[in-house]
Amino acid sequence: MTDTIHILVTLAEHADQRLVESALENEPSLEVVGYADYLDWSEFLEQPGDVVVVACTGRDDNAVHMIDRAVKHRPGRPVVVMCEASPNGFLREAFEAGADDVITLPQSPEQVAFMLAKVIARRKGITVPGKATAPLIAILGPKGGTGKTLVATNLSIALAQRDAKVVIVDLDLQFGDIGLALGLSPERTMYDLMKAGPPFDHEKLERHLITHSSGVKVLIAPTRPDQASAVSIDHLRDIYASLRTMCDAVIVDTPPGFTPEVIATIDVSSAVCMVGMLDSLSLKNTKLGLETLDLMGYDAERVSLVLNRADSRVGITADDVSTIVDRSPDVCIPSDREIPRAVNEGTPIVAVKPGSGAAKAFRDLADRYAKAPVAPPEPLPASKSGVRSLIGRKR
Ligand SMILES: Nc1ncnc2c1ncn2[C@@H]1O[C@H](COP(=O)(O)OP(=O)(O)OP(=O)(O)O)[C@@H](O)[C@H]1O
Ligand SMILES: [Mg+2]
Repeated sequence: MTDTIHILVTLAEHADQRLVESALENEPSLEVVGYADYLDWSEFLEQPGDVVVVACTGRDDNAVHMIDRAVKHRPGRPVVVMCEASPNGFLREAFEAGADDVITLPQSPEQVAFMLAKVIARRKGITVPGKATAPLIAILGPKGGTGKTLVATNLSIALAQRDAKVVIVDLDLQFGDIGLALGLSPERTMYDLMKAGPPFDHEKLERHLITHSSGVKVLIAPTRPDQASAVSIDHLRDIYASLRTMCDAVIVDTPPGFTPEVIATIDVSSAVCMVGMLDSLSLKNTKLGLETLDLMGYDAERVSLVLNRADSRVGITADDVSTIVDRSPDVCIPSDREIPRAVNEGTPIVAVKPGSGAAKAFRDLADRYAKAPVAPPEPLPASKSGVRSLIGRKR
């Protein structure tokens, strides 16, 4: 972190060079190689430097074009946007064009140095040229209580057990319980993030994520149903775009049904995991859910079907399931009495009972999204934090 960072600054039209200078100068760890303006920046990128900073006033097509060119010009070199304001949607466009992070001015040079060092450090592990954008997996189930939250938490931990950096977003905005299922107290929630407002840069997101002992980070749902209306879909899209550049997988737990937030999430997702249960009402809704995805033009190959409580003896066979929903389940999770206990204790079964059939099913599900399957880990001691966090908090 003490190495000097060499910076190429390109200024979009109307960018305030003096403001940018005040954020980059008088800081020993930062050295500006040079400034180029929006008319004269193409060849400028040939120069050596550790990072390209694209400075702009806010939403600007020219700046988006500059980001795109700078990324393609040298895919291994990070590109950071510095802007004076971040109108809705701009941040998403910047990330989609390949920006590594967005810094809103004014900022102190020390803060900027810290953010740039983080961006460069993050890029060091990436050998493949180009941008790594994490998959976003939406966990859906049109009917309540089918096991969406169970799947979201256990899938995330199974991925973290493979050393993946995972972020869970609890999109059950009124009655989200990911925090409870993981034994986390809702010190900061999505409501606080919405109140903080854009831009949703990495630093701001990190401040609003709560870390579980497995390493999984969680954006906790608002703690009261009346706070749900503060969540803006446009902001949510920006948050997803930003999160996808700071971890290896984003898992989104959803409420039952196709709410506008859920539809927006499906639209940007890379995969959907549909969770159904072995009863005729749930299967009927699962079928409807799959049909809805089809109507939305969602590629069936990106949909995994998870059948929860698959061993329940309720007079429905696996063949019946395939007939009703018109496809066979990809992963079957057995009923397990340890699951409610694990939920109450805030320690997902994949962590506390890795040898159980349910834990194995969650690892099979994780295999669909992770490259290398691994041996089951050692069990973690059960904690009482889930129950404790419920007792100690007001909802
Ligand atoms: N395979 C299982 N074996 C035993 N209990 C289970 C199993 N799957 C789910 N449960 C229990 O069912 C309850 C509902 O599960 P979960 O909260 O994951 O469902 P959900 O789909 O997220 O519900 P909602 O729609 O209300 O958000 C949980 O308390 C969990 O303990
Ligand atoms: Mg749930």
